[in-house]
Amino acid sequence: MEDFQYREGELYCEDVPVSRIIKEYGTPCYIYSHASLLRQYRAYDSAFSGIPHIIAFAMKANSNLAILRLMAKEGSGVDIVSGGELFRALRAGVPPQKIVFAGVGKNPDEIRDALKTDILMFNVESSAELQAINDVAASMGVRARVALRINPDIDPKTHPYISTGLKKSKFGIAADRALEEFKLATSLKHIEVVGVHKHIGSQLTEVTPFVEALKKILGLVQQVKAHGTDIRYINIGGGLGITYSDEKPPKPQDLAAAIAPLVQHLNCTLIMEPGRNIVGNAGSLITRILYTKQGEAKRFVIVDAAMNDLIRPSLYGAYHEIRPVQQRFVQAATHMVDVVGPVCESGDFLAKDRTLPEVPPGEFLAVMSAGAYGFVMSSNYNSRPRSPEVLVRGGEAHLIRARETYEDLVKGEAIPAFLN
Ligand code: LLP
Repeated sequence: MEDFQYREGELYCEDVPVSRIIKEYGTPCYIYSHASLLRQYRAYDSAFSGIPHIIAFAMKANSNLAILRLMAKEGSGVDIVSGGELFRALRAGVPPQKIVFAGVGKNPDEIRDALKTDILMFNVESSAELQAINDVAASMGVRARVALRINPDIDPKTHPYISTGLKKSKFGIAADRALEEFKLATSLKHIEVVGVHKHIGSQLTEVTPFVEALKKILGLVQQVKAHGTDIRYINIGGGLGITYSDEKPPKPQDLAAAIAPLVQHLNCTLIMEPGRNIVGNAGSLITRILYTKQGEAKRFVIVDAAMNDLIRPSLYGAYHEIRPVQQRFVQAATHMVDVVGPVCESGDFLAKDRTLPEVPPGEFLAVMSAGAYGFVMSSNYNSRPRSPEVLVRGGEAHLIRARETYEDLVKGEAIPAFLN
């Protein structure tokens, strides 16, 4: 969180005091640092500069148009998982030849839209999907480029909800069935097999699972090539973790150093799909303390952001550092507290059993490392309008998504005449 620092007694994002953003846009509010986004993207890109590669930013982590445009201007492509993401990517100006499409449940409309746009490729997750893509492509008189997503059965050693490359997972094609699937794929007239793909999970804090999974995939590439299919792309997925608390994940250059020797001689373009690593520590969620409450067994800090704004703590038990916006409170007496939101669920918390300095109601807290899987997973639960998003660049703060209004909440709803 390098670009969120205390200066002159308060938290800044780059050269903008967070208090200025609060005054202008209110709370809860997401703030992103332009400098952090660029630094992380460039770290990834330059780490792999020795190998032909495409970075396909996993836009599920943060799909705001401004963020996507920024990535596209840096040369990034995107990894999409829905027609909605394709729409956003195109709207933001991401070139179709850098778009890859993953997901176990692509529907025919989404497949058609992606073929119409001529995206780089589909990452295919089953033989049924191969058939479906072949059918849609046939109806359009085109050939669809695909990579087969292989499930290498490697434990990524991360949270079970974000592990995707184990035998019991719904993702990908089992490694031991892969050759058969490749044969099927090459027999389909409207399919052109161009690559292999793997993604074993998210928030990985070691390089070893990446390397093991890649080795398994490369063994397969040899066999497939021997059958005469030219594999031009190897997609290693995303998953490189970030520091939320005291994790020490490898840096992109550590990943590159481990991977490059394995692929350098293959004459392939490497595709990677980092999401969290690029945006996670570039964002924070700012919230106001409404009340403090001493319960029978616990002390609560009740804030105006809730699980509908940031669901990671409730859903995964995820840890997000929490800091006072005004630095003077950092020295205050501490208490063990739960930081909770206004949503009517016991699972609505941003931190549990956390030792925090005492900050009075009316003051503000920053929930750190909220740039990835933050706003994008937010909802209108309890009819709470979604928060605004602000992008800071140097001394400027740009609103990149306005706070939703109550009218936005009911958009598209209708009361049928019989209820009049
Ligand atoms: N590629 C594929 C095929 C993926 O499924 C994912 C993430 C990524 C790339 C990007 O992974 P990353 O580099 O961001 O780790 N909501 C969860 C994370 C879900 C990740 C789903 N797939 C969270 O908040 O931790």
